[in-house]
Amino acid sequence: MTGGHRRLRVAVLASGRGSNLQCLLDACAAPDFPAEIALVVVNVPGAHAIDRARQARVPVTVIDHRDFASREAFDAQIDRALGEARIELVCLAGFMRLLTPGFTAAWAGRLINIHPSLLPAFPGLHTHRRALESRAIAHGCTVHFVIAALDAGPTIVQAEVPVLPGDDEDRLAARVLVEEHRIYPQAVRMIAEGKVKFEGGKVTVAG
Ligand code: GRF
Repeated sequence: MTGGHRRLRVAVLASGRGSNLQCLLDACAAPDFPAEIALVVVNVPGAHAIDRARQARVPVTVIDHRDFASREAFDAQIDRALGEARIELVCLAGFMRLLTPGFTAAWAGRLINIHPSLLPAFPGLHTHRRALESRAIAHGCTVHFVIAALDAGPTIVQAEVPVLPGDDEDRLAARVLVEEHRIYPQAVRMIAEGKVKFEGGKVTVAG
């Protein structure tokens, strides 16, 4: 910690590979970054994201959705874990569960997601395949505030990449992923520094 400033307490929710979790762990490892990862929540036992959190010596809790009778009960358990860790901002990073409207409302303005398309284009799955099929010339990724509707909340940052001749899903995904790892820490920094807010259904950007 430098300058006596308190760092924003962030939780990352992940389900798989965890490369976006890693980029946030790496960003937060810098002493002058205004946020810290105080908790990682993973819903898939054995996911690589768990190893990444452990390597970084960050508390990780596995909450397996299959252990709960309903989405509400699963979300309530996540909410409890976040509350116990005094989390101030939740980052979804390849978290493959739909969150209930109760949860998204409770965390409104404090819950963000990264999505591999230039929203509002291609919400949902298989974004790279769909971009190629639609012959898009540009593609990219978006960090946005989460609302109840899937991949529909207001944008914080976007990055664009070209779709190049000869691209297949993997090549295009790799080009987008480089940008994901750049803009996700950037969005967290903006929120931690109070430069962007989502209040009363509106996003405000300072400066
Ligand atoms: C990323 O492309 C992210 O945008 C999407 O799911 C993928 C997760 O990758 N929501 P990783 O687990 O962060 O490596």
